[in-house]
Amino acid sequence: MNLPPRVRIIDVGPRDGLQNEKQPVPTEVKIGLVQRLQAAGLAEIEATSYVSPKWVPQMADNHAVMAGIVRQPGVRLSVLTPNLQGWAAAVHDQPDEIVVFGAASEAFSQKNINCSIAQSIERFAPVVAAARAAGVAVRGAMSCTVGCPYEGDIAPARVAYLAGLMKGIGVERVDVADTIGVGTPLAVQRALEAALTHYGIDQVSGHFHDTYGQALANIAACLEDGVRVVDSAVAGTGGCPYARGASGNVASEDVVYMLHGMGMDTGIDLPALADTGRWLAGVLGRGNGSKAGQAMSPP
Ligand code: HMG
Ligand code: MG
Repeated sequence: MNLPPRVRIIDVGPRDGLQNEKQPVPTEVKIGLVQRLQAAGLAEIEATSYVSPKWVPQMADNHAVMAGIVRQPGVRLSVLTPNLQGWAAAVHDQPDEIVVFGAASEAFSQKNINCSIAQSIERFAPVVAAARAAGVAVRGAMSCTVGCPYEGDIAPARVAYLAGLMKGIGVERVDVADTIGVGTPLAVQRALEAALTHYGIDQVSGHFHDTYGQALANIAACLEDGVRVVDSAVAGTGGCPYARGASGNVASEDVVYMLHGMGMDTGIDLPALADTGRWLAGVLGRGNGSKAGQAMSPP
């Protein structure tokens, strides 16, 4: 395998990990999570989203979360903004990066953001332009690149189409997301390669939910193709409210354990990350979704 020497993790736990929690998670816990992730060496953290509080009530405290974080130099905080209203709200909190989020599947686009793929791109275009004019980086999340809860298998051509649209409006880098975690390594590589028809290898990240236990294998396949950025969530929390059957994200601790074991550098202090995962699982009152985190528990 031709592996990159260094891999960057985007911990999406504060946003993707918590957005689907049924009970309101206190704002202080969300802030505490970001602080702990920063202290563990994460250089990229997806902190919150600026979406309709009627759709995703858990993220309604976005301003308070961003205001409460003591920003560390060199840490990129990203936030989700689906439209200009989201951007207008987010810009006050000075995110380092915004994320527009589209889908390779029409049905999922409708369920998740209430518009078609084409309409979503029309909505994203002025958001991307405003962010770039303000010097804020722009990432595009591409959901359902392998499978969709409503449409089933998704052809790589759909991923290439969406990636081309994202590129056309100025999105700087993209996440290839397996929203419902149905992908297996070769299918994920085909989705990745479709994204690579429009983006360079250093502009693409893998975002894998672990519903069928395939996420680490899928990440290893992406690394083999040269991917250097991986999304994951500490303690394996997460799921999308509009993707029935979507389970947690791959756990950051498990990804870091694998990367370090394969000789790749992440800049992350794995024991500190595992502590954070156990703390979060305890606060949420649920089992720890990270096997590495469980294995590293103090006796
Ligand atoms: P809409 O109803 O079509 O929007 O929703 P609208 O423009 O017609 O406005 C309707 C109402 O929403 C109005 O309020 C607006 O003010 C409000 P009302 O007058 O009824 O009181 N509104 C907003 N409020 C706050 N912030 C905003 C905003 N925009 C409108 N930005 C919308 C469209 C996109 C807003 C809605 O569908 C929505 O919020 N969806 C939530 C989507 C979401 O957060 N999904 C989860 C994240 S994506 C994900 O998890 C996948 C990912 O992890 C990758 C992967 O795994 O696949 C990224
Ligand atoms: Mg996700």
